[in-house]
Amino acid sequence: MTNRSDASPTLIRLSDYQAPAWRVSRVELTFDLGIDATEVTSRLQLACDPTGPAPLRLDGEGLTLLDIQLDGQPLPESAWRYQDNVLEVDGARDGSVLETRVRVTPAANTALEGLYLSGSRETGFLLTQCEAEGFRHITFFLDRPDVLASYTVTLRADRERFPVLLAGGNPDGHGELDDGRHWARFVDPHPKPSYLFALVAGRLQKIERDYVTGSGRPLQLVIWAEADAIRHCGYAMDALERAMRWDEQAYGREYDLDVFHVVATHDFNMGAMENKGLNIFNAKYLLADPDSSTDEEYRAVEAVVAHEYFHNWSGNRVTCRDWFQLSLKEGLTVFREQQFSADMNSPALKRIEDVALLRRAQFPEDAGPLAHPVRPAQYSEINNFYTATVYEKGSELVRMVAGRLGRDGFRRGMDQYFSRHDGQAATLEDFLGALGDANGIDLGAYLAWYAQAGTPRLTARGRYDAAHRTYTLTLSQHTAPTPGQPHKRALPIPVKLALFDPRGRMVPLHLAGNGADAGASERVLVVDKAEQSFVFEQVEAAPVPSLLRGFSAPVILECDYAPADLALLLRHDPDGFNRWEAGQQLAARAYDNLREGNSSAALDAWCEALSALFGDTSVDAALLADLLTPPGEIELSERERQVNPSHVHALRQQLQEHLALRIGRETLEQRYTALAAHTSLELDAASQARRRLKRRVLELLARIDPWAAHGLATLQYDNAPNMTDRLGALAVLVRGDAPQAHAALAHFRERYADNPLAMDKWFSVQALLPGAVVLERVRQLESDPAFTLKNPNRVNSLFGAWARSNPDGFHRPDGSGYQLLAERLRQLDALNPQVSARLATAFNGWQRLEPTRHAAARSAIAALAAHPGLSRNLTEIVQSMLQ
Ligand code: ARG
Ligand code: ZN
Repeated sequence: MTNRSDASPTLIRLSDYQAPAWRVSRVELTFDLGIDATEVTSRLQLACDPTGPAPLRLDGEGLTLLDIQLDGQPLPESAWRYQDNVLEVDGARDGSVLETRVRVTPAANTALEGLYLSGSRETGFLLTQCEAEGFRHITFFLDRPDVLASYTVTLRADRERFPVLLAGGNPDGHGELDDGRHWARFVDPHPKPSYLFALVAGRLQKIERDYVTGSGRPLQLVIWAEADAIRHCGYAMDALERAMRWDEQAYGREYDLDVFHVVATHDFNMGAMENKGLNIFNAKYLLADPDSSTDEEYRAVEAVVAHEYFHNWSGNRVTCRDWFQLSLKEGLTVFREQQFSADMNSPALKRIEDVALLRRAQFPEDAGPLAHPVRPAQYSEINNFYTATVYEKGSELVRMVAGRLGRDGFRRGMDQYFSRHDGQAATLEDFLGALGDANGIDLGAYLAWYAQAGTPRLTARGRYDAAHRTYTLTLSQHTAPTPGQPHKRALPIPVKLALFDPRGRMVPLHLAGNGADAGASERVLVVDKAEQSFVFEQVEAAPVPSLLRGFSAPVILECDYAPADLALLLRHDPDGFNRWEAGQQLAARAYDNLREGNSSAALDAWCEALSALFGDTSVDAALLADLLTPPGEIELSERERQVNPSHVHALRQQLQEHLALRIGRETLEQRYTALAAHTSLELDAASQARRRLKRRVLELLARIDPWAAHGLATLQYDNAPNMTDRLGALAVLVRGDAPQAHAALAHFRERYADNPLAMDKWFSVQALLPGAVVLERVRQLESDPAFTLKNPNRVNSLFGAWARSNPDGFHRPDGSGYQLLAERLRQLDALNPQVSARLATAFNGWQRLEPTRHAAARSAIAALAAHPGLSRNLTEIVQSMLQ
């Protein structure tokens, strides 16, 4: 009844997929809710293929079976067996009704999967999380996404303890019971898989808004949170309304129930969940207020609210046939969310943010022991596959296809996909098929992207022939082997490009042998072979190519640019993304220069170009802040054969020091003062941009004049009107080990003691302290009374920040960081396997560490793996790590 690994881990394979022998057409559930014990009565209307009746097997984990009846008759013990998480029932036929009554224990559920308690026994509330396989922790069921049923749910509970009762669907009556209890019923007319089931019960407050869909249907939006948080839900409500309007306009999709509920909880394994009609959010992605949320967090709330809402079509109305197709809903929904955020904010900044995330989180995944295709071929524990590859790379694949079809073609294709598969559980083939059919194009070649792990390297070489005025661009691709995939094939890679003349102007493109688009200044070349050459004619001088514009494919580009070429793009490319990208490439070269201690051409060019841009007031402040930020330590580590994280950290610091010196102390200070004079509480783009640049300028100043920077940071901390400024200043003080850091931390601790989301930031900012000393701080912080292994946000804010975002502090050469993490993972795993397994992925990349750290990491991971009784989740991760 547990998923502990003593039961040998079985692999589930895509190639073994079989349509379900049994289906459930209708589900009636009745919950008698209690914190220690909840009874669940279920009535399943069964259907089976009459030609070959298979034995009826239902999933069920940790359930105490109290009662079982088939077609109204109690079943004798000989007619059913419940073992190894399967209930087998004899005698069921097509049309049979199976009734079971089970008991579950919410307060004992620390895994936060199934039905559990959020908060304390006295004041907390009950809620569910079913994706991927939580429903089987609530009742017996065919717990797989291709079994779609309509649900009627009745909740019964003590009125005083659980005044609010919610389930997905439309409300269908409520009333009093005679013993101080009350009831409420919900009917969901849209057939759905069990992973979209949800209920919530407890003391919650609400805010409401009336909404009228584009076609004139009125409905109600309700956001629920605990009393102290409800006043922080207004921003999410506005974001929800914007998202609903956007989906109507961009995709012609309307909401389809009479009411849409959204609930915030502090106890949640993931970001949020799109349960039909009852979205449940990690409070981190729903609550927002200027005093405790940063600008980044505001944008994240807007994005996640939209993401979950968009799932109502991309996920709920059209769902996944099996969990291998997870990216069908996640990649597509991330893509829709990114489009929405780009429309609400700045498209170029959004693209920069998304690509930076892809490089920081997905590229290392694709390059390490956990690499898997966007559609994995097998898994042991599906919860381990809610990854950057499935989500972020999955979105990039949709983006490539959307780019191929163009705006109108993609919309036509999406209309076709939604209408053809509405109410169905679909596959990625269905998706590409619908998009292709609507446009008379075969998109089958893109399936290879879904099946092949690893990031392709695209190498570009350009040759200018002055005599013939031709420019030949040779593009070749190569993907390194990944676990289980030794041989890789060529993929279709769309390369959007432009050519610049030496003065930084885009030149008209005349591609030899291709009349279409002649003279356009930008076009897309598709590279689908190992190597291909393209000849451009009528090119008057050796051009500088701007490749993969807008990041047109998720690949690593290697190009023999001279530093001056990149500097030219950094100054002149009108594509905001590629301008940033040129700066990133230049900074990466500068990093290589510093490491090798050789010529500093790239470093000079980078500093020179940026200091020029720094003085250019026409550059958007937020873009400038991004331009002034070199690639992160994780990204830079990917350039190393053997990684020494302290070394990477030191080199990156040097890089910033050079930049700061080139811009100049006084210039930085002046700019900071000018930006600080504008302090405002507003959330508009210009105010956010100023805050972002102000922080970056202060960080750069801290590299060359810590004393001055710490003085300014202290003032900023003391006078901050919002969390963005307060946390930005605090981070500069803490990371610079400023004498003022201590008082600021103590002040923050006291001021936000009752605000869990702000306290998470207090833990994180200290977990990011550079250098070996952070280990002591982490130990100290774990014994803070506010720390607990039971809350996923708290665990991630301390251990996640440290092990994942502070390579210099985590990777101590003596291995004590690895030992501490491994030890905590073991404890955490006994409470919450999903969270332990995700945190364990922080070891990713250990194989490329320099020998001393490599050996220490191996022994810590091996010791963890050898520990008996690890969850299936954590077992799969550590075993893959050691492979
Ligand atoms: N479907 C959710 C989303 O919007 C993620 C939920 C995953 N939960 C889990 N325990 N695996 O992305
Ligand atoms: Zn999602």
